[in-house]
Amino acid sequence: MLKLKHIFLFFLAMTLISCQTEEKKANYAVIPLPQEVVLKGGNPFVLSQSTAILYPADNEVMQRNADFLALYLQESMGKPFSTHPYETKENGRSNIVLELDPQMDTEEGYSLNVEAEQITICGKSEKGVFYGIQTLRKAIPAEAKNAKVILPAVQITDAPRFGYRGMHLDVSRHFFDVDFVKKYIDILALHNLNVFHWHLTDDQGWRIESKKYPRLTEFGSKRNRTVIGRNSQEYDETPYGGYYTQEQIKDVITYAADRFIDVIPEVDLPGHMLAVLACYPEFGCTGGPYEVCPRWGIFEDVLCIGNEDTMVFLENIIEEVMDLFPSTYIHIGGDEAPRVRWEKCPKCQARIKAENLKADNRHTAEDRLQSYCMKRIEKRINDRGRQMIGWDEILEGDIAPNAVVMSWRGLEGGIEAAQLGHDVIMVPTSHAYFDYYQTTDTEYEPLGIGGFIDVEKVYSLEPVPSVLTEEQKVHILGVQANIWTEYIPDSDRIEYKLLPRLAALSEVQWTQPEKRTIKISLKDCLN
Ligand code: ACM
Ligand code: ZN
Repeated sequence: MLKLKHIFLFFLAMTLISCQTEEKKANYAVIPLPQEVVLKGGNPFVLSQSTAILYPADNEVMQRNADFLALYLQESMGKPFSTHPYETKENGRSNIVLELDPQMDTEEGYSLNVEAEQITICGKSEKGVFYGIQTLRKAIPAEAKNAKVILPAVQITDAPRFGYRGMHLDVSRHFFDVDFVKKYIDILALHNLNVFHWHLTDDQGWRIESKKYPRLTEFGSKRNRTVIGRNSQEYDETPYGGYYTQEQIKDVITYAADRFIDVIPEVDLPGHMLAVLACYPEFGCTGGPYEVCPRWGIFEDVLCIGNEDTMVFLENIIEEVMDLFPSTYIHIGGDEAPRVRWEKCPKCQARIKAENLKADNRHTAEDRLQSYCMKRIEKRINDRGRQMIGWDEILEGDIAPNAVVMSWRGLEGGIEAAQLGHDVIMVPTSHAYFDYYQTTDTEYEPLGIGGFIDVEKVYSLEPVPSVLTEEQKVHILGVQANIWTEYIPDSDRIEYKLLPRLAALSEVQWTQPEKRTIKISLKDCLN
């Protein structure tokens, strides 16, 4: 009997010990680092089971923000949090209050005020409140199940440095399903990014359903085989394919929009079009035969700009893409389009003559043929109140009048474009190509495209070159990084390439440069 009593007392003691809740403290040194964090002293806020999240009544977007916060807190603390509309601020006692203040300065800015009685996140817009929620979520320990979470009193005032904070994903070389694309978008939201650049078409596969040209997915979304290794002579002889239906694309756009992320589609033209040529050989200069490309690289077979049917096809596709994607920006690629076919093609040469496209000491007539194509597409885009983005090759020839330049071969293209009065997004291979290796010890890394960009290198990018005048600097809209997927066959590898470099990128995009701890210089950036 005595023995039983001892056992009972032992288990009672163990239960009492395990019920004693561990304390965990919030840490406001989150990524990206907010502009201003002022610890106030005084009593902290204690997050408890009874803490509710309150939002203004009759505001669905704020309600969604509150639901996001509840979900994030639950992920960390392992228990549900309730959300309610509030009538008066009094409801806010011991709770987290989300509110809007139209008097605040910046569209994406927010304040996060933690006091013993209440946490308040305030933004000029719902978007700002969303970033305040991200900061709060990151400040709380990721793993705080059964813990008591203490938030020191603080006043955080924050706003992003750049309005364009992007991340790209190539889904042509390898295809990633909707579930993973949504996970990718969640990771971007966690880092305060606001653009997902979706590279949907390339030589190795067409990935958007087209109602007007169904062959593009029936046939153009599949390649018969894929080269093994770095363009060896061997192929895996395994068919590979995938595409997104228009319904799936709409679902992704809504998912991203709920997280204040614009989805910018890219249809890369007039080069990188072998998947289209495999479906419609008549759109090429030679007529083929063509194959949805099983290798990696830059290919001489590009679209025939001299063929009016090709141009009408492009215009129709861009219209269909604009019907699907509400984004202001539409990316039309424009990179890596060799001119050799155009030089020999009677139709292209006839177009050059008819349009009076002339060579000069900087550009060939064929460069101007590409500009002709870009300008025609830009007109369609501008006619619908949208704006065209192209890779920096669109500067070769005569740049389309309203085009935004995505500067990838360094910062130089961006500098030239800004000097010409064009808006610019900096995505230099020197700092922002996340398909590159992150280590020099490549022998122990999965096969990659090459290069070397580690976290520190990404972090050292200064996207606004000091050679620009103050007026020209305003044209630098922001920064992005790219993930090309020739050597990235699965989503685990994408995450490995994305993280932790995205953390460094997000501070380049969001945080003011004087807050960064590594000295940066234009010389480093112009490698
Ligand atoms: C690119 O990396 N070809 C834009
Ligand atoms: Zn041609």
